[in-house]
Amino acid sequence: MKLARLLLWPLATLCLATTSPDDHDDFQRPPPYDAKLDKGSHGYYPVHPFITSPLTAPQTNFVQWSPDCNDGLHYFITPKGWSVSKPGPMILAGDGSMVWSEHFANGFGGQAYDLKVQKYQGEEFLTFWLGDDTVRGHGAGQYYMLNASYDIVHTISAANGKFADLHELIITPEATALMIVFEVIPADVRPLGRKFNDVWNQAIWNCLIQEVNIETGELVFEWRGSEHVNITQTYMKLDSLAEGTQENPFDPYHLNSVEKDELGNYLISARNPHAIIYIDGKTGVIIWTLGGKNNLFMDLSDGYALNFAWQHDARFVSPYAFPETYTPPPEKEGVSVTLLTMFDNAAVDWDYFYGMPYSRGLLLELTYPTPDSNVGKELAAGGRITEDSIVQSGEPREPLSKQDAEKVASINGTRVSYAVRVIHDFTNPNHVRSGTQGSVQLLPQAQGRDPKLFVGYGLNAVMTEYSSNGSVLCDVHFGAKTSWERGDVQSYRAYKFAWVGRPRTAPVAAVKGDEVLVSWNGATEVHSWLLQTADSPESDWTVVEREPRRDFETAVRLPRQHRAARYLRILAIDRDGQPCEYGVSNIVVRNRFATFARQRLGGSSVSAIQLEEGSGIAYGWIREAPIN
Ligand SMILES: *[C@@H]1O[C@H](CO)[C@@H](O)[C@H](O)[C@H]1NC(C)=O
Ligand SMILES: *[C@@H]1O[C@H](CO)[C@@H](O)[C@H](O)[C@H]1NC(C)=O
Ligand SMILES: *[C@@H]1O[C@H](CO)[C@@H](O)[C@H](O)[C@H]1NC(C)=O
Ligand SMILES: *[C@@H]1O[C@H](CO)[C@@H](O)[C@H](O)[C@H]1NC(C)=O
Repeated sequence: MKLARLLLWPLATLCLATTSPDDHDDFQRPPPYDAKLDKGSHGYYPVHPFITSPLTAPQTNFVQWSPDCNDGLHYFITPKGWSVSKPGPMILAGDGSMVWSEHFANGFGGQAYDLKVQKYQGEEFLTFWLGDDTVRGHGAGQYYMLNASYDIVHTISAANGKFADLHELIITPEATALMIVFEVIPADVRPLGRKFNDVWNQAIWNCLIQEVNIETGELVFEWRGSEHVNITQTYMKLDSLAEGTQENPFDPYHLNSVEKDELGNYLISARNPHAIIYIDGKTGVIIWTLGGKNNLFMDLSDGYALNFAWQHDARFVSPYAFPETYTPPPEKEGVSVTLLTMFDNAAVDWDYFYGMPYSRGLLLELTYPTPDSNVGKELAAGGRITEDSIVQSGEPREPLSKQDAEKVASINGTRVSYAVRVIHDFTNPNHVRSGTQGSVQLLPQAQGRDPKLFVGYGLNAVMTEYSSNGSVLCDVHFGAKTSWERGDVQSYRAYKFAWVGRPRTAPVAAVKGDEVLVSWNGATEVHSWLLQTADSPESDWTVVEREPRRDFETAVRLPRQHRAARYLRILAIDRDGQPCEYGVSNIVVRNRFATFARQRLGGSSVSAIQLEEGSGIAYGWIREAPIN
């Protein structure tokens, strides 16, 4: 069979099978759990090296796996930390094998954050942050948008010459980008206990929310923490005399997530005040605050709704999102009921004073007066929600720790029209505690079914998929358990998304003994590899072996009767047996010593990204500190 001819087929028919959630029957189960990896026998970050690529892939270790996790989606992480020598954005297949990663050799160690798939003008892109994260826990950089061929098609910067922080980029349906900016401003920090009167030298990290038009870079909305949140609302302690100065600004707010709702208002997570803040999109005025010293809500779950601390990733969720397990109360004029998810770290930088003894994903129900409605305004002014009270208490729970009980008692709301209760919390059986970073994502299921919850544990190399009732479906480690709480292997957030990657670089093949190895960074559509031989590069190619893709790098055995073949190459074939565009490897020329010639056919090399030197970010390269 002469497959070379197939390459003349119209490109439109090539390799176009897309991943649909119902069509992943060729899924491979992940390898069984390996206790040695968790014990650190192979180091904090056990990796697979490859022959055809300088990249390494984490040895993902499934502590638990269920067919329920086989939903056709890929994992999106950004491994980094003391043990990750070449950090970068990374995509893993459902079986944990690496599909794509790229180290961006910029001046700041190539630290990437917040890799996700987002839609912009009808097309899906990878978005992630790169920049300087050597300022502890936040950053100054830019967001990158890559298309399906991993080409940078946009960079997104903060407006007015500012630098985007690493925590968040949301592309809205209006083709704007939401970002956070950290900025040093002078501020009198004496209310936090600073004893000196050197107010001329006192400073804080202010946090801004910016909404920016992606095409023009124009600022659409800006909100400054310092204009709305008193620094005394922070739970961060000013405990060093060197802190709160121009040289070492105090960090009272530490915003770490933002989104915009259909009313045009913004929901933000302010880590250091332990607060989720809902902001009027026209005036910037705070509509309500959940949690922390300015909390408005009554906790109807024995304190377990308000005792979150140092949280990340606050998201509104529709009250109709959980058709199997949660029915919202009947709609009532002037009363809003919504669900909200967050990652409750319950710890910050080895400080375990506030919160639970471990981190949790949290699903809360909030009831509050509808903004912009007359009835809502009356309720907000102190009106009562009558006896067919829409709020019910949650399950009875163990008493809180002393410090949490005191905190909740001092912040619990008194206005009956604001209420919060826990619908579910999502706790890893290993009681993972992440003092920084973390995420919670809803994974949609078929119509009429509850979504799954996907939790990334930030500081710890763990991602866990839960059923909506809180039971664990899959639990994945991409670093040893011995690395937890050390900062050796981290990923700021973890997500699952559908993704079709079509690199325009060729697969790379190499011979090792009687095997031909092949890898193709970023290609998601390869189902099998065809090994071909020829007498000369110009003569016809003959298929001599077919091997399903097994891992990032697949070994194809050279059949005994073809071991004398002089020219070898490999072709990528999709699920429908069609050749993939750009899917022809380099030709390997075998002589008596089986040398490997790196000739490449087709496709220019487009995957490398060069960050401009001297891009105006005036920081030297410093080894990364544990983040966030
Ligand atoms: C990705 O972007 C490059 C550069 O703009 C373009 O040539 C290429 O066709 C794009 N690929 C896809 C799949 O859109
Ligand atoms: C912030 O709060 C402190 C303590 O409650 C108070 O003394 C101060 O006046 C407040 N600052 C502003 C700007 O409201
Ligand atoms: C908060 O206040 C409400 C209203 O008084 C009360 O029902 C609830 O039990 C309180 N929650 C806690 C945790 O004290
Ligand atoms: C929770 O959901 C899982 C899968 O969806 C199911 O197998 C399990 O029985 C449920 N557990 C409880 C306590 O309802």
